[in-house]
Amino acid sequence: RAEYRIDVIAGDGIGREVVPAAISCIDTLADKHEFRVHWQHRDWGSDYYRAHGRMMPTDGLDQLAKGDGVFLGAVGVPDIPDTETLWGLLIPIRRSFHQYVNLRPVRTLPGVRSPLRGGDELDLVIVRENVEGEYSEVGGRLYQGRPEEAAVQESIFTRAGVARIARYAAQLAASRKGVLTSATKSNGIVHTMPFWDEVVAEHAGEVRLDSVLIDALAARLVLQPSSVDVIVASNLFGDILSDLAAGVAGSIGVAPSGNINPEREFPSMFEPVHGSAPDIAGQGVANPTGQLWAGAMMLEHLGQPAAAAQLERAFAAALADGVRTADLGGEAGTEEFTAAVLDRL
Ligand code: NAD
Ligand code: IPM
Ligand code: MN
Repeated sequence: RAEYRIDVIAGDGIGREVVPAAISCIDTLADKHEFRVHWQHRDWGSDYYRAHGRMMPTDGLDQLAKGDGVFLGAVGVPDIPDTETLWGLLIPIRRSFHQYVNLRPVRTLPGVRSPLRGGDELDLVIVRENVEGEYSEVGGRLYQGRPEEAAVQESIFTRAGVARIARYAAQLAASRKGVLTSATKSNGIVHTMPFWDEVVAEHAGEVRLDSVLIDALAARLVLQPSSVDVIVASNLFGDILSDLAAGVAGSIGVAPSGNINPEREFPSMFEPVHGSAPDIAGQGVANPTGQLWAGAMMLEHLGQPAAAAQLERAFAAALADGVRTADLGGEAGTEEFTAAVLDRL
């Protein structure tokens, strides 16, 4: 019987509502598929910050490094700057565990309608570079409070960093339709993007590489989403495209994300694409599908593909039967939807 230790950081807002939903589904699957998950619940997040002045203990990363994976809800609250909450938890985990791939599948789910009239079916994967690019630590605020006040942000794209994300995306594209769409902006005065294009082209291997300017790609995702299959994008472009594609598919509440360390030197982290949704937190109405799907991605990564597939089938079946949360135009609460998924497991 395989056993896994998973660190759970439910975090803030609706993270605390959707994470328990996913845990109950995974525990049910563990019984059926004869594995066991030892959940290490971590009370890290904004309440921890209020009590201790930091988002996690000083040795928090060392504690997580011992596990087989991290299962995250979301972090962020309206009354603490995101520079404290996100930079104190989410970003350090992604970076220190070399989770340089952020894998974000987007698919049309049964019973989930695109807000677009006559919209195409979506079935694509965004491979987002997850540790460098526009999200660099170089920069800051200058001359605060003076008339010449300014803010500076350097983007850092390394040859090794672009090469490895391009190789990962190209391999994924080769296993699907053989076409890789690269999000670029080499026409603007963005010095990093011609370099991105060059390195991506060197590592695209056998797949057909389609470099598309990010502005046009955004429109294409709305107008002809079925014309793309695997997208490789820089950190910021990939962030924006993933909420866009999820919105086109029906709701950001259904979108999952895997922060992957492909070499498996460190645990990978699984979380929904959405955030802590303070506007609906505490109401019991959040859609747990993104968290459930992230749980399925985690099971796949852990080597339990049958359990992963069963979980995906179960939430798809609940949706197909018309059990839907408010973001999808339904009336089910988080618990009611979760109960419907558990029934179908
Ligand atoms: P958000 O994703 O939390 O919410 C955007 C909108 O989508 C809101 O109207 C929300 O109600 C809705 N929504 C999101 N998830 C939903 C779900 N599961 N079911 C139903 N509706 C859902 O983005 P935001 O409001 O811009 O950010 C809120 C906070 O979350 C900020 O502090 C932000 O920095 C943080 N954030 C954290 C993460 C993370 O921890 N990985 C990711 C994104 C945003
Ligand atoms: C995401 C989030 C984060 C990101 C924020 C909260 C730092 O939007 O995971 O998509 O930009 O990576
Ligand atoms: Mn995002």
